[in-house]
Amino acid sequence: MELVDIKNNANHRGVPIIRETSHDILVKEIKKANPQNVLEIGTAVGYSGIEILKNSNATLVTIEHNSELVSEANKNFKEAGFEKRAKVVCADCVSELAFMLASDNYNEKFDFIFLDGPKAQYQNMIDSLIMMLAPGGTILVDNVLFRGYVTGEVTPPTKRFKTIIARLKVFIDDFLNRPELENAKLISVEDGMLVATKKRKNNN
Ligand SMILES: C[S@@+](CC[C@H](N)C(=O)[O-])C[C@H]1O[C@@H](n2cnc3c(N)ncnc32)[C@H](O)[C@@H]1O
Repeated sequence: MELVDIKNNANHRGVPIIRETSHDILVKEIKKANPQNVLEIGTAVGYSGIEILKNSNATLVTIEHNSELVSEANKNFKEAGFEKRAKVVCADCVSELAFMLASDNYNEKFDFIFLDGPKAQYQNMIDSLIMMLAPGGTILVDNVLFRGYVTGEVTPPTKRFKTIIARLKVFIDDFLNRPELENAKLISVEDGMLVATKKRKNNN
């Protein structure tokens, strides 16, 4: 399947994938960072992962808990010729990050991290992700404004989003003020993104 077909097919089925302008920001940040090792949280069908690999020479580790999506992503990576550069891990991302860090092989391993998984867990993952990010590396986060509910621009239809909205507010505030990060900014396009780089050691 061509990339445009992967995108159209995912949109048609309601599988959430990165939106247009956010996609362009991802590609721009990947080109700017020129990473060697990328970690993605939230694979879905591999659409953003393929874009990351197309626009860099990096290898990608990407985590997804839905086994059907994992199979589909593996098929898409293979068809796109990226089988050797993409490793899809079928796991819950919060436990997987703890597991990876415990193995000691992933400290400061990744020079680009794309966080695009369960929004309610972003704050639970940020410490681990910063530990895994190499000094000078970039972290890009999608969906932080959650359909405009976080800013109050759009009123949530039900009360059930209350917890996740509150958690995202805490996450955004923490991210923008993390002492380990620099040049942190909120990009208020589409579903909202955050980007920052990890300070190099001599900047501390
Ligand atoms: C927004 S989608 C990812 C889209 C993908 N990055 C793209 O743009 O092509 C978020 C993905 O995170 C996965 N996900 C949600 N909770 C998860 C968890 N606890 N562990 C791992 N993956 C999870 C969902 O199944 C979904 O496929």
